[in-house]
Amino acid sequence: MNILGFNCYGHDSAATLVVNDNVVFAVEEERLNRKKHYGGIPAESIRACLAFAGLSMSDIDHVAFFWKPSISYSKVPVFLSRYWYRIPSLLREQRSFSVEENLGMLNYLKDMRRLPSTLQGLFPGQKMKFRLHLLEHHFCHAASAYYPTPYEDAAILTIDGAGEWTTSLLAQGRGNKIRKLSSVDTPYSLGAFYQAVSRHLGFKLIEGPGKLMGLASYGDANSEAYKKMRALFRLTDRGGFKFDMRYFSYHYTRRSGVSKRFTDLFGPSKTEGRDWSEHELNVAAAAQHIVEDVILHQAHWLKKQTGSDNLCIAGGVGLNSVTNGLIAKE
Ligand SMILES: [Fe+2]
Repeated sequence: MNILGFNCYGHDSAATLVVNDNVVFAVEEERLNRKKHYGGIPAESIRACLAFAGLSMSDIDHVAFFWKPSISYSKVPVFLSRYWYRIPSLLREQRSFSVEENLGMLNYLKDMRRLPSTLQGLFPGQKMKFRLHLLEHHFCHAASAYYPTPYEDAAILTIDGAGEWTTSLLAQGRGNKIRKLSSVDTPYSLGAFYQAVSRHLGFKLIEGPGKLMGLASYGDANSEAYKKMRALFRLTDRGGFKFDMRYFSYHYTRRSGVSKRFTDLFGPSKTEGRDWSEHELNVAAAAQHIVEDVILHQAHWLKKQTGSDNLCIAGGVGLNSVTNGLIAKE
């Protein structure tokens, strides 16, 4: 059985080919088209997958896509009822972003419906028989971390900016099944929070969080900034978390991730052409410390729930290697 999986319409498009339960080839589109964080259809990656295995699109039995638009659609009324007064400005902004995520994905829901014909357009003349599966984003993350392991059971933690509506999934893997235990939904998003602080400190969208993690090592993780920022966060039961959304703006605008209330408390956003102040380094360290607090809280809850010594982590925030090191130490 040949399965092609891919993602697009967000950032870092990629494709993977699974043949008879084995991942035989995977590549990110930016490696082939040299466009950093490319978010369009990963045409070159799909071609590379097929070429490696000597297959054509006619040989593909299943196509797996990393997003389930029906969940996003079902949440639109919730978003509209909460943030209706922000809709005109959000719609205006959408057009000015070439690489988007989270709410930006709403832009592409209509394109997702056209995926079969888009694929057909890439391979004219090849008769396609595949079944298309639009899959829940965080279950894709969970599968990517759990299925390649040799474990028969594991706790699974996925954390990112947002997938459809979810920002973190706490699950259990047993045999070939993944079962949801708990989840956190937007607007409470560790990935969006971390990205908001990285933009506040002068980094770009998407690539900022990795740089923020490095910058954090220069600051004091227990400074006054940490105490102030930590007071905005609340760890909740079932591995959940909440924070005071009045300090953030990422859920209704692309222009910045933090609100005026945040800059009043932590200082103005960093401008180009100067180095980071000691206070800004402490703000970076504070954000990192908070990510660690939240993830350790989630990992502890998962350990209690599953009793498993194995933990599989995925998602953009799951790439926070400093936090992974702390988990490994415990
Ligand atoms: Fe994700």
